Amino acid sequence: MRLVVIANRLPVTVKSLDPVKFERSPGGLVSGIETFIKKARISDWVWMGWGGSNLRKKDVQKIKELLLNKHRCLPAYVPEKIMNKFYNGFCNRTLWPLFHSMPTLATYEKSTWESYIEVNRIFLKTLLENLEVGKETQIWIHDYHLMLLPGMLREVHPEAKIGFFLHIPFPPPEIYAQFPWRREILEGLLGADLIGFHTYEYTINFLRSLSRILGIEHSMGELVYLDRLLKVDTFPMGIDFELFNSIKGVSKKTKAIKQALGNKKIVFSVDRLDYTKGIYNRLLAFEDFLRRREDWRGKVVLILNVVPSREGVEQYQSMKRQIEEKVAQINGTFGSVEWVPVLYHYKSLSVEDLVAHYKASDVLLVTPIKDGMNLIAKEFVASRRDLRGVLVLSEFAGSSRELGEALVVNPNSVEELSKAIELALEMPPEEQESRLRIMQDRLKRYDVLKWGSEFLETLKGIASKRDTLK
Ligand code: UDP
Ligand code: G6P
Repeated sequence: MRLVVIANRLPVTVKSLDPVKFERSPGGLVSGIETFIKKARISDWVWMGWGGSNLRKKDVQKIKELLLNKHRCLPAYVPEKIMNKFYNGFCNRTLWPLFHSMPTLATYEKSTWESYIEVNRIFLKTLLENLEVGKETQIWIHDYHLMLLPGMLREVHPEAKIGFFLHIPFPPPEIYAQFPWRREILEGLLGADLIGFHTYEYTINFLRSLSRILGIEHSMGELVYLDRLLKVDTFPMGIDFELFNSIKGVSKKTKAIKQALGNKKIVFSVDRLDYTKGIYNRLLAFEDFLRRREDWRGKVVLILNVVPSREGVEQYQSMKRQIEEKVAQINGTFGSVEWVPVLYHYKSLSVEDLVAHYKASDVLLVTPIKDGMNLIAKEFVASRRDLRGVLVLSEFAGSSRELGEALVVNPNSVEELSKAIELALEMPPEEQESRLRIMQDRLKRYDVLKWGSEFLETLKGIASKRDTLK
């Protein structure tokens, strides 16, 4: 059976046209689906998504062939003006903060909502013009950018097998109810046969919103909408455990990082620059720790790697300024000629560099205020084959549901976070080992292959149950 993946991001983004250059797209969605397709050895698949802002209309045909032949990617062309309103506007100024339960940061504008409808329509049109949507195809639509597409596609292809997976949280109904277009989005999602979420909490939030806003009730996650059966369920996304656990050729890099820091203890953190990731609180906590524990000064370094993201959105620009000011302040207050407490890098790391950092670190700080899943936490745990290292993890990351043996913290409490840094740096090796062992066993069992296979199997099952009920 053919698999058609549809997401705003393609796994590669067009970086330049002359010469044609692609780069790997950022984020957990791309990491997860890409590794699933590889691990599951799916032979007949294609991935449709936005081609990137460097793509002009006149270049589409040329790039389309290259992308299809080389990467199995079908680019959807969206004019820049509409894309800007859609991506920087409705997706990242409305949906992103609202769905991360930060409604005071969300703006509601009719014109960006209209661009959201328009882009979902462009995706539909591109799909229908280029690919077969028959019974032998599974259509798997991803994330908050495309929540109207399942409904639009259902209207023209009532028989289609459509799955939808949300990679970010679904907020509690009392927050979701504030959203002006709450009915339209729910109705759009209900065009799918299967709607999946990372955690049970998000699934329940969605089902309760359905009941409150559309008066639709479910039985064990199954429900009927417009005379059609569909299912809502939880599928926590995993990682390629084997890859991270037995990656070769990074020991030189790991050694180099340790040596460059004079074998000081290393606290590491890496995320996209996003206000949901709790980077600022992390810095406040590290500052508090250095203030309280004078004996640790000069003996520990925080490597803060921040990956550029959504630079066109004002909130992201101001977050960057705040982070950079705080880093300078900490280094100015505590640093000396021999010791820089915070090493700040603003760039994306290759997988090899990332794993070398995971392996060189004593502590990884993952402290989001809210995060759909967070794969970084899982990758760190998997990469510690030596069974050393401590994960400090926010209880508000989806991954904390599966990683209860981490030092689980409330990232809003600077004191609690600062105490966790202390505990982590001083944790006996036997305890590090026993915590990591349990988490690794769990990640090995529910890896990315299991995630994707279970989703697609469930989709097959519910679509055929729907057909037999007709
Ligand atoms: N990643 C990367 N280089 C970096 C930082 C992150 O390749 O410098 C990858 C990382 O391996 C992970 C993904 O980006 O698979 C981030 O996913 P996560 O779920 O943690 O966060 P998201 O960015 O999707 O919010
Ligand atoms: C999160 C979202 C993805 C998104 C990624 C990177 O993981 O769930 O849909 O692709 O962040 O963000 P960007 O805006 O650069 O695509």
